[in-house]
Amino acid sequence: MNKSGHFFLLFFSTIAFSSLIPFNLIFGQSAMINVSGRNTALLNGEWQVIIDPTGIGDWREVWKEKKPERKTDFVEYSFEGGPVLNVPGDFNSQKPELTFYEGTIWYKKTFTCDLKNGNRLFIHFGAVNYKADVYLNGELIGNHEGGFTPFQFEITNLIQPGENRLIVKVNNLRLKDGLPGLGYDWFNYGGITRDVHLIETESSFIEDYFIRLQEHSFNEVSGWIKINGDKLSQNIEIRIEDLNINYKTRSNDDGIAEVKFPAKPDLWSPENPRLYKVIIQSETDSLSDEIGFRSIELKGTKILLNGKPVFLKGVNIHEENPLKGVKAFSKEDAALLLNWARELGCNFVRLAHYPHNEYMIELAEKMGLMVWEELPIYQHIEFAEPGMTDKMDLMLREMIRRDRNRCNVVIWSLSNETYDFTPGRNNALIELTKKCRGLDSTRLITSVINNHGYNNNTFNVWDTLFRYFDIISLNEYLGWYIPWQGKPEEVKWEPVVDNKPVIISEFGGEALYGSNYGPKDEAAYWSEEYQEKIYKDQIEMFSTVPNLSGVCPWLLVDYRSFGRMHPVYQKGWNRKGLLSDKGEKKKAWFVMKNYYNKK
Ligand code: GCU
Repeated sequence: MNKSGHFFLLFFSTIAFSSLIPFNLIFGQSAMINVSGRNTALLNGEWQVIIDPTGIGDWREVWKEKKPERKTDFVEYSFEGGPVLNVPGDFNSQKPELTFYEGTIWYKKTFTCDLKNGNRLFIHFGAVNYKADVYLNGELIGNHEGGFTPFQFEITNLIQPGENRLIVKVNNLRLKDGLPGLGYDWFNYGGITRDVHLIETESSFIEDYFIRLQEHSFNEVSGWIKINGDKLSQNIEIRIEDLNINYKTRSNDDGIAEVKFPAKPDLWSPENPRLYKVIIQSETDSLSDEIGFRSIELKGTKILLNGKPVFLKGVNIHEENPLKGVKAFSKEDAALLLNWARELGCNFVRLAHYPHNEYMIELAEKMGLMVWEELPIYQHIEFAEPGMTDKMDLMLREMIRRDRNRCNVVIWSLSNETYDFTPGRNNALIELTKKCRGLDSTRLITSVINNHGYNNNTFNVWDTLFRYFDIISLNEYLGWYIPWQGKPEEVKWEPVVDNKPVIISEFGGEALYGSNYGPKDEAAYWSEEYQEKIYKDQIEMFSTVPNLSGVCPWLLVDYRSFGRMHPVYQKGWNRKGLLSDKGEKKKAWFVMKNYYNKK
């Protein structure tokens, strides 16, 4: 065995050994909210990188950036003279050799910081897919798992005068016990995919708050404010000029201030997406936010928005800019996707299957689009694996914490198409639903089910967990994966899902824009006409669905998924979009738009 053989044996045994020791010093701290409203410096831009397909960087301790000292020394890695990658952004679309890459890439960024005396400093990541180990000046400061939610680390006592070296080990390997797991129908974009901020705060600052319309009321605002720091008990003012509100409260010794005051806001709705400038002023900090006030609740089988029944005219969207073939992260990407949804006639969007970036949520709120947010607990999840509950809880907390002040977020979805025969699934989702209700009782909660039978044109839907959800959400692909067994308008439903609203959270079929390869009534040629027919039939069927309160085509636009391998019709794209990857409108688009215009 040659030298390298010995070396690799040594190296791989070390890897085996090191993966046994959890080296996480600090899990990602809960990220403070409203980052854009704070005193921050962006660390976006070009980052130096080391692409590490074998993962040997751990053994080489890349974060130490060793330099040769003696004449006989040499170091087999360096960021200097190496490639760079843009942040934010996925790495797969930035270099052809990274297109299919799933593994480790080391990112480096240097910064200097002149911290005001007594102030604190945090490094905040909007998201890193999938695992991040973060080093500062050669020391591990912490790590985070989960590709779609923010996390931060306090570095007040870790920074040094002059240049600071931030190194992030990013790994997007799919994991059996990951969230999502090994198999999912979207592109595994890896990288530092959202903004990176340095945040400077006073020693005590407003860490978190929840300001909303009191449940079951149109003229009372309630909530709380949380102070972080050494001065927890503070006087706090909330000012809403447009409502002549100047409310005073005080945080207690735990830093929590209760909020409750009468107000008569214009209620937020798709027709009137009214937001109010809300200033929260404490003795040591001040934040402003644009907040809307609305109520979302159930009444029997109806979903009520501001006390009136509402039908959710939705569309599913993945966080991808198809025109560029990259993971979406910017305001422009959000505008592209949401303007298409608006043009389709939507008042609602399901952001599948994971929390999208904040620009999406914020722009949707300004545009009057209600939002369904979802956790990537998708299909085959190892619910019974040790540590899985903690991972799910962390993601749930991070999602709710980031977006609970966005009034357009009306539904939390905790999972998609998981199976009640999966060990641990039922209990895990029951507990997660309870935790979600505990964290936020002001929104509707669901999980998407596709457990159904279809015989003799009769739909049989069941799931032992239905009773825990506010809404029954069903994915069904009649006309595509499942051929019709009768007239769509004569579909029967058994058992009629008792007293809850139903949302068809996915339906549809594939078409390659302009495909003209064969008979239009045969699925195998991916024709627009075949997809168009599916939509016409589905709309016929909708009239049979008991308690139908919303529908959501799968999906707005074709998107990348390497499981879709037909070399002519798919080429690594899921072609169920109503728009092609170039934004071209397929025939089914007009069927759906027409339906929404009438609805
Ligand atoms: C599923 C799933 C989607 C998937 C879609 C499809 O229902 O929820 O993530 O992309 O079907 O098969 O296209």
